[in-house]
Amino acid sequence: MSVGKKFKIASIGAGNVGASAAQYCLELELGDVVLTDIVEGLPQGKALDLTEAGPIRGYSSQCVGTNDYADIEGSDVVIVTAGLPRKPGMTRLDLLEKNGNIISGICENIKQYAPDSTVIIVTNPLDVMVYLAYQKLGFPPERVIGMAGCLDSSRMRSFVAMELGVSMKNVDTMVLGSHGDDMVPLPHYTTVSGIPITKLLPQERIDAIVERTRKGGGEIVSLLKTGSAFYAPAASAVRMAQSIIRDEKQLLPCAALLTGQYGLEDIYMGVPCVLGKDGVEKILELEISDADQASLHKSAEEVRSGIAGLQERGIL
Ligand code: LAC
Repeated sequence: MSVGKKFKIASIGAGNVGASAAQYCLELELGDVVLTDIVEGLPQGKALDLTEAGPIRGYSSQCVGTNDYADIEGSDVVIVTAGLPRKPGMTRLDLLEKNGNIISGICENIKQYAPDSTVIIVTNPLDVMVYLAYQKLGFPPERVIGMAGCLDSSRMRSFVAMELGVSMKNVDTMVLGSHGDDMVPLPHYTTVSGIPITKLLPQERIDAIVERTRKGGGEIVSLLKTGSAFYAPAASAVRMAQSIIRDEKQLLPCAALLTGQYGLEDIYMGVPCVLGKDGVEKILELEISDADQASLHKSAEEVRSGIAGLQERGIL
């Protein structure tokens, strides 16, 4: 990626998350967008609709819809949202087999048409799907990244801001671990304009925010009933794409391949990452409590059972 060039972003999956991701990319003028889906007409219709919003919203990048993977050729960043979403009563792991097969097929095409891209996986069960994508793509791990911590920490930021009646922009949080009910929100690394929330909120309110964060995806699923969240997941994926495309070096929690950090290896999980033009340029190892370390390892067990599930089904 060189300075001054026009970037190309492929959004694979033109459902709610993929189309919202395309919209945010266009509004930020990150580059031209190719919206891809297997359903005929769907990506073409949404891409044309997004193009027609351009004059009003003030963007002029190209947005093309296609059923042909050849059109993702030369993409700098590929955002993968394809797959089934959860319905009420389902865990993210219930999606393992169907989404595992979908991700495997998509990876073949990314390998063929966009071998130099950085790939952001959004499909659930997230930490398992990104590990699968890493194995199937054979790309260096810094170019295969999972979106989730960014979403979970954005949810926590909004809950803290709502609780305190302060601007969301003032709140910073960090959520580690898998994108599941065992994720590890870190109140000790949560601040409002530099003030730790432990100085601003009683423990029981902090505990309630942590619990709501863990169940944040399920809360939306139970409200929507026919699908899962899409605005915040798409915004989170695009935040990551932005940091990569513009080489912003944002420090964001993302699912990255661990090679011993936090005592874990050969697994993808949410950890603080610096994202820049080379993808994951650095993984930070924070000092965390014994209880948080134990939760992190519990969350890793959930991911490993998902990976074992893929192996049992011959998908990995
Ligand atoms: C969520 C889904 C996208 O957390 O995993 O909303």
